[in-house]
Amino acid sequence: MTDNSKVVLTGIKPTGTPHFGNYVGALQPLIAQSQLQKTFMFIADLHSLNLIHDAAEIKRHTYEISALLIALGLNLDNAVLFRQSDIPEIYQLNTLLMNVTPKGLMNRAHSYKAAMDKNTDAGLDIDAGINMGLYTYPILMAADILLYNSDIVPVGADQKQHVEFARDIAGHFNTMYGETFKLPEPVIGRDTGLIPGLDGRKMSKSYDNTIPLMAPEKDLKKKIMRIITDSKTPEESKNPDESTIFQLYKHFATDAEIAEFAQMFRAGGMGYGTAKTILFERVNSVLSGPRAEYERLMANTDELDAILADGAARARPVAIETMARVKRAMLG
Ligand code: TRP
Repeated sequence: MTDNSKVVLTGIKPTGTPHFGNYVGALQPLIAQSQLQKTFMFIADLHSLNLIHDAAEIKRHTYEISALLIALGLNLDNAVLFRQSDIPEIYQLNTLLMNVTPKGLMNRAHSYKAAMDKNTDAGLDIDAGINMGLYTYPILMAADILLYNSDIVPVGADQKQHVEFARDIAGHFNTMYGETFKLPEPVIGRDTGLIPGLDGRKMSKSYDNTIPLMAPEKDLKKKIMRIITDSKTPEESKNPDESTIFQLYKHFATDAEIAEFAQMFRAGGMGYGTAKTILFERVNSVLSGPRAEYERLMANTDELDAILADGAARARPVAIETMARVKRAMLG
């Protein structure tokens, strides 16, 4: 994806402290992409509101993700990094798109259906705890995508349907009001496979098995030492593909190092304690530089505010132009 005539945009929801799974699946590819081409990249704080009702928490997660992206090498010349809520036109477009979005489309959203299923399974009212922010989440996301004339939207597989909805909504709009929006396309990142957490299940905040990316060194070590393993003795040969330790190592090492580590698993003679130490040292050597920069930025949030304000200033003119066009089409 290095065609600079295409507008690339993606949003990151600030709902938790970023962990290894986020890094491998989403953040690392975005950082790599920012070296190659202009990308609108915003912190989707409005989207986190349907879940988090604590301003300080949203603000903290917004800083954490911004600092993390920058510390890991985001190219700020190419990446237009901003806070979703800083662009007033997003609220406006969201309101207008409500009127061209069929209710039935929202009923079909995976995220809303999953929330209803959870309620049904728990014997609760089908809409218990579901607010309109969750129900209309895909409309706000369509507004994000269409506001910046996006052609390409890199997202995880779980967000594909939302990008398709944005495309549907743009299509409806164009049919009703004439050509106004480009039709965006989702681009699903390469399949990174499952990133296992401490207990071997998928790494996820909801399983409480994550390894935070920017944890202080001694916490990182403690977490890695806590990875659950089987009970093979050091002498026994081990299958690297069944080991959480190896699966995590793969994302932080070169091909040659990966091959060598796999060989050490198979050969036998390496206990899990040693393997964990090797993993820790490898990960720590990759992350210690970014961690220092991350800590510096988190202690200087004024600097982050300035970077986000600069991003908003670069994004806003596009938003203003689109809103003017949409208003003209709908309201004359
Ligand atoms: N919904 C996305 C997620 O949960 C975040 C997001 C919000 C987004 N707006 C977007 C992604 C626009 C791509 C484009 O991960």
